[in-house]
Amino acid sequence: MLRAILEKEVPNYRTQDLVKAIQDLKKELNAVILAHYYQDPDIQEVADYLGDSLGLSQQAQATTADVIVFAGVHFMAETAKILNPSKLVLLPDLEAGCSLAQGCPSDEFAKFKATYSDHLVISYINCSAEIKAMSDIICTSSNAVKIVQQIPKEQPIIFAPDRNLGRYVMKMTGRQLRLWDGSCIVHETFSERKLIELRLEYPQAEVIAHPECEEVILKYANFIGSTSALLKYTQQSTSQAFIVATESGILHQMQKLSPDKQFIASPPIDDNCACNECPYMRLNTLEKIYLAMKNKQPELKLPENIRELAYKPIERMLSMS
Ligand code: 13P
Ligand code: SF4
Repeated sequence: MLRAILEKEVPNYRTQDLVKAIQDLKKELNAVILAHYYQDPDIQEVADYLGDSLGLSQQAQATTADVIVFAGVHFMAETAKILNPSKLVLLPDLEAGCSLAQGCPSDEFAKFKATYSDHLVISYINCSAEIKAMSDIICTSSNAVKIVQQIPKEQPIIFAPDRNLGRYVMKMTGRQLRLWDGSCIVHETFSERKLIELRLEYPQAEVIAHPECEEVILKYANFIGSTSALLKYTQQSTSQAFIVATESGILHQMQKLSPDKQFIASPPIDDNCACNECPYMRLNTLEKIYLAMKNKQPELKLPENIRELAYKPIERMLSMS
């Protein structure tokens, strides 16, 4: 279906034709392509900026482009729109959601928040615009610890929606946080038993993990950090091999930046699935990016009242980072 639509636009297209067509459209639209590390390698290669959730928000805030093409998931494109109400924000596939965002519906969260009305609400950026609008401060995996540390000790805090990141922040700050019980379907998939086997097979390898992983995986990690922090760590460490417990898309950049080092994806529990690939992130394709730019849709739209309310906690995060 997608191929048939595309064939009309770029007859007998090949990847190189598509990349050239995307580059041409970028100039024509004055567009910028922002991509997350969990995107397919061919998308990473066509991006103007590749980063983690914080880096992508900062780029969205700073861009002078008229059109933002977001090669990531819905909450990331929403954040770009919240920061840029007058720009056209394109998300190549509007179905690119996130289990964390889906697991925190706004009506249930409103009740949770009302139960703890004296609490400050710090929400992980992996949530809907409605949840952001109900939050005091947004954080990402790269600044969550730093942000919580800036809040006075006597102030109780709700941390939503990722319980694993929340637990990690509690451990790093020594603070008690009231956690929303959400998790990422990709980061809860890693097998402890297979990780132990890999460590025996590669005794020199360091284990590096994203804080969205479960505690049973994090306890083996030599280093824990956001996707950007993990990438930087692999460049700076003297180790020659790494077992990587996060979405496997990041291995492309790790290998590219350190071609002589070895990167091994931490395996999921189920042998018969690619569960360490985010099914939402991987909905985006080069073809869909081309069509989104060509047709100027699907466009990310938000009700202005929600956008305005969601802007303040994002602004606070950017100034506290
Ligand atoms: P970071 O890129 O901020 O590390 O987050 C990972 C993630 O799961 C994004 O959805
Ligand atoms: Fe959401 Fe997990 Fe996918 Fe990130 S990897 S977008 S947290 S489902």
